[in-house]
Amino acid sequence: MIDFAGISAFEELPEALKAAERQTRKAIADLGDKFKPSTSVNDFYPPSENDEWTNGMWTGEINIMYELTGKDEFKSKALEHVESFAERIEKRISIKNHDMGFLYSPSCVAAYMLYGSEKGRDAAIAAADYLISRFQEKGQFIQAWGPIGSRDNYRLIIDCLMNIPLLFWASETTGDEKYRRVALAHFNTSIECVLRPDDSTYHTYYFDPDTGKPLYGVTHQGNRNDSAWSRGQAWGIYGSALAYRYTRSDKALDVFNRTLDFFLEHLPASIIPYWDFDFTDGSDEPRDSSALAVAICGMLEMSDLLDRPGLRKKAEKLLGVLYRECAVKDPAISDGQLLHGVYCRKSPTNDARDRGVDECNTWGDYFYVEALKRVVTPGWKAYW
Ligand code: GLY
Repeated sequence: MIDFAGISAFEELPEALKAAERQTRKAIADLGDKFKPSTSVNDFYPPSENDEWTNGMWTGEINIMYELTGKDEFKSKALEHVESFAERIEKRISIKNHDMGFLYSPSCVAAYMLYGSEKGRDAAIAAADYLISRFQEKGQFIQAWGPIGSRDNYRLIIDCLMNIPLLFWASETTGDEKYRRVALAHFNTSIECVLRPDDSTYHTYYFDPDTGKPLYGVTHQGNRNDSAWSRGQAWGIYGSALAYRYTRSDKALDVFNRTLDFFLEHLPASIIPYWDFDFTDGSDEPRDSSALAVAICGMLEMSDLLDRPGLRKKAEKLLGVLYRECAVKDPAISDGQLLHGVYCRKSPTNDARDRGVDECNTWGDYFYVEALKRVVTPGWKAYW
């Protein structure tokens, strides 16, 4: 376990906020009306279409910047993006997966919350409708990838815990309980399967398509089927915190405590996690800064919900380390926010390929600025 007493307070917050605003403005100038793709190339984002699972988090970064600064340049850019997201769901452009929350919560739900955009609300509800269409009665889970019902992809993945808040929100905003029912069923199934006795997590879990019986866990982006992929563990932390916000259930609280304890206990002494918890101090494997950013947001959410100042203090200290080690301080080296992320890393036994290794990525940037906002504004109402 890292020694929190030995980590200094995040006294650089004012510089961090200034740098973050400058980086968002720089990326807007570099990208024009295009989007950040999932990852940078040599720490710069090539201008890209709105066709990946990550695009909503670029819009989310801009929304956070609007909230932090009140500047209209961010609001108008974010509203421009809403048009693109509305078209994307209407025309079904690259949406055949479970990633509707990642796409529509920080973009369109946020636009409705911040600017009263009805177009954003409608698009987010349409995305929630699509998400529940991926629910499998046999097994009681939302199928993550592939054609709905396909036998070779009859599985859930831990990342989806970040997509179900869209369903909780959809029930709240429409008054129709059908979304919440799916969210609860998926959450309960997920935690029964992905959480291991030692509090680490599986990335994906297969079910029998004929009977719905849970079968076995398999990794896609982790090092081994039985290892703990750092970002998957972080999705578990933040996903369970958000489930707790919407349900106040003891189960969600228990999952949060267990996934967080494992994460903190397995951080290297140098704090920024390696891409999989199989690796620790002394390893040459790359780090995944985005995993820490996600986990910090989960800690800050839960510290608000449970009124736990001790948890907030730990999260703020970790954010200080993330700023010192990974935040971009010189715009000449990058138009992202957070260096040293990993999208996928090939291992001898996983089926991933090296992708976005030691690069910025859109979600790392987003969760880093969300964490900054949460530190500035305790009790902040998340887009999730
Ligand atoms: N949700 C996909 C990832 O974390 O890479």
